[in-house]
Amino acid sequence: MIHEKVQVLWNKKAGNPYYRIGLKCHKEYSTAQPGQFVMLRLINQMVPFLRRPFSIHNRIMKGGRTQGIELLYKVVGKGTEKLSLCKKGDFVDIIGPLGKGFVIPDNYHRIFIVAGGIGVAPLFFLASFLMEKNIDLSACRVFLGAKSKDDLLCKDELSDLGMTVHICTDDGSEGDKCLVTDSLKTAICKNRPDVIYACGPLEMLKSVAKIAKKHIVPCQISIETIMACGIGACLGCAVERCDNTGKYLHACLDGPVFNPHDLKI
Ligand SMILES: Cc1cc2nc3c(=O)[nH]c(=O)nc-3n(C[C@H](O)[C@H](O)[C@H](O)COP(=O)(O)OP(=O)(O)OC[C@H]3O[C@@H](n4cnc5c(N)ncnc54)[C@H](O)[C@@H]3O)c2cc1C
Ligand code: FES
Repeated sequence: MIHEKVQVLWNKKAGNPYYRIGLKCHKEYSTAQPGQFVMLRLINQMVPFLRRPFSIHNRIMKGGRTQGIELLYKVVGKGTEKLSLCKKGDFVDIIGPLGKGFVIPDNYHRIFIVAGGIGVAPLFFLASFLMEKNIDLSACRVFLGAKSKDDLLCKDELSDLGMTVHICTDDGSEGDKCLVTDSLKTAICKNRPDVIYACGPLEMLKSVAKIAKKHIVPCQISIETIMACGIGACLGCAVERCDNTGKYLHACLDGPVFNPHDLKI
């Protein structure tokens, strides 16, 4: 983990209200794992006072070396709105890489990835990472769900990696008009995967966890909680364990990637 002020390499619109920001970072990020995140703070801004968590979306490589990271973010409030105004050459303050990412044992070959909305942010890094590990991506599937076609992110990039991409929108403006978990249910009955990795809204994650349990498939989900520090100091990211001990896990240290069966969600 490193705390540094980093230069903005680009900050481009990726369709309203989404942006991609490239940050020139320390070489520490060459060992970042998919699912890990950074806590970002704008410099010389009192609002927002607290850092904001963002998943690592991609590593920026040059000549085989990691030069930085890219974040994919949605403008939802004051912090992300101000972030969207950052320009190339500006500096932001980040702490990272933080948290525990997705675990990818060598015996996982048929992989299902389920992404809801902006939840695709860490999953694209995961897909690129699988490719680096020489996993045959043609045997892997991505289930990409969004409210509408304008909220579908990374669909071309994921299919360029060689994965089969199933698209679902709530309004039917692209792909199937259904929940992404409906599409997952259909596929899992025909072709049981070795693992499911998911990130998205909590209700989607609960449903993915249920489907995985029913079909006895290992599952890892990346959850979002409010995070004030990202390093275990504020206890703001506590999530209750499922074992009825009344004990809590911390999304910033123990996660944000969890086995859903360890959580009371
Ligand atoms: C581990 C982790 C990784 C994340 N990765 C990404 C990412 O890659 N891309 C991305 O766009 N977002 C990501 N988020 C969510 C992101 O941190 C919030 O959207 C951001 O902090 C909002 O800041 P704001 O100041 O713009 O909004 P605020 O003004 O603080 O809040 C605006 C609205 O957003 C909601 N909100 C605030 N924080 C969160 C949060 N942590 N989760 C869900 N809703 C929130 C508030 O309840 C409120 O309704 C991640 C969150 C976590 C915990
Ligand atoms: S965010 Fe502060 S303890 Fe996890």
